[in-house]
Amino acid sequence: MKLCQNEFKAMNHPLRRFSQRRIEYPLFKRMGLAGSCMRILEIGCGSGYGAGLMRDLKPTRYVGVDIMPEQIALAKRRGLPNCDFRVLDATDLCCFEDGSFDVIVIFGILHHIPTWRRVLAEARRLLVPGGRMFLEEPDGRVISAWDKIFKWGHPVKGFILPELEGEVERVGLRIKQKKKIAGFGVYSLQRGP
Ligand SMILES: C[S@@+](CC[C@H](N)C(=O)[O-])C[C@H]1O[C@@H](n2cnc3c(N)ncnc32)[C@H](O)[C@@H]1O
Repeated sequence: MKLCQNEFKAMNHPLRRFSQRRIEYPLFKRMGLAGSCMRILEIGCGSGYGAGLMRDLKPTRYVGVDIMPEQIALAKRRGLPNCDFRVLDATDLCCFEDGSFDVIVIFGILHHIPTWRRVLAEARRLLVPGGRMFLEEPDGRVISAWDKIFKWGHPVKGFILPELEGEVERVGLRIKQKKKIAGFGVYSLQRGP
């Protein structure tokens, strides 16, 4: 689902950038997001800030997908070399073959997608066996509280984190590590054989 105007502004605010740069990305790295020569897919890449952060990984391929043309336009405007930004719906990534990526990264988008389970299944399909995924999502109760205050109107009232964890395992992504911070779940996952 596209973001409402207020959330679009909030997601592109310096405070959001600070959190992504100083808290979320370092946490992913401490959980094992490392190495080079990887093919990385970022699902829900927004305006491409995460792509800029991940340049230090020196990926051989980086693809960022987002459903909002406005976000992808901002991402392209960053002029990041070797970054391929595309307007795509995360629930249907059939333009990519099975096992196309070594790493998948999600900075908080599943709570925007009523059929979020489908995205997890797609992620599993797109990873090579043994491939890694780094996922960060807020608990549904955080979303409900935000919606009361900010009126962002998320279509999914959210899942509680245990529900997300159950689904992750069900589709075949093993939870290697998890951390809960201020109502957010941060996960390091691995695709089984
Ligand atoms: C909360 S924002 C996070 C954006 C970015 N990852 C960040 O951390 O700033 C959620 C993003 O998911 C995107 N999105 C929502 N539904 C989507 C879908 N079905 N497929 C792809 N992207 C989607 C939105 O356009 C938005 O950019």
